[in-house]
Amino acid sequence: MSDRIDTDRVQAALVAPVGGPVVWASAVGSTNDLIAMRAREGASEGLVIGADVQTRGRGRRGRAWEATAGDALLFSVLLRPSRVAGDVGLLPIAAAVGVAEGLAELGVAVGLVWPNDLIVDGKKLGGILCELSSTGQALAWAVVGVGINVRASPLLVAGRWEPTNLADVLGTPPAREVVLTAVLRGLGTWCARWYETGDAPVLRAFAGRDLLAGRNVQVTVGESTLRGVAIGLDAAGALQVRTASGAVVAVSSGEVTGVDAIPPAPSG
Ligand code: BTN
Repeated sequence: MSDRIDTDRVQAALVAPVGGPVVWASAVGSTNDLIAMRAREGASEGLVIGADVQTRGRGRRGRAWEATAGDALLFSVLLRPSRVAGDVGLLPIAAAVGVAEGLAELGVAVGLVWPNDLIVDGKKLGGILCELSSTGQALAWAVVGVGINVRASPLLVAGRWEPTNLADVLGTPPAREVVLTAVLRGLGTWCARWYETGDAPVLRAFAGRDLLAGRNVQVTVGESTLRGVAIGLDAAGALQVRTASGAVVAVSSGEVTGVDAIPPAPSG
């Protein structure tokens, strides 16, 4: 089942720098790939491309991201932050906060697992894939790709987290247009805040939704496994883990593969 998205109505509600245009397709390979192509052609910041279904949807760490047509929100946004390439560690974090706050507008209490898993009651509601392109030191563009499960689908299988969806969380399946608008507005609001006021507000907001802080975690970093207690993010958005020896290790690229019992999601 697929509910129609009125792209003009969505665009009218958006917040710069996620200001549109909004383009919606019935089927694409990957919305991240389409945004990257448009970015290379010179498209402006704020372009949104979404689709009812993706044939080559990608998740983090090379995994496939699959959903049956119309049962998920699948979209990507083009950003052009004026930052050097080495100074964008907070972009995936700002994106996570923006999406979570957009969903909170709909009454969904989303907790975050570093860097940007969207978790409700210990299950994964969605995820974010940020991809960057730079020329030398300069960041050319960034893609923020978001996948949110709207209805149950046989394609949603358990990975590290059991999947969940908005219909199960809210009791009735919300219209995708309503969800898309709220999430894009959250993204726009938090990207603007990150551009204008820097990293500190983003880190504070993430800390308020951080489901790992104080918990025993296992993090896969390349070929090795790190175990310890998660103690929040550092100034660059890396996950800090205190190991048994007392040393604090900052992980800038890795995957949380284990965590002790996840606490209830924050309200609102
Ligand atoms: C994750 O692994 O948790 C991130 C999933 C991100 C999936 C979205 S769906 C829209 C966009 N296009 C893609 O190919 N991937 C992202």
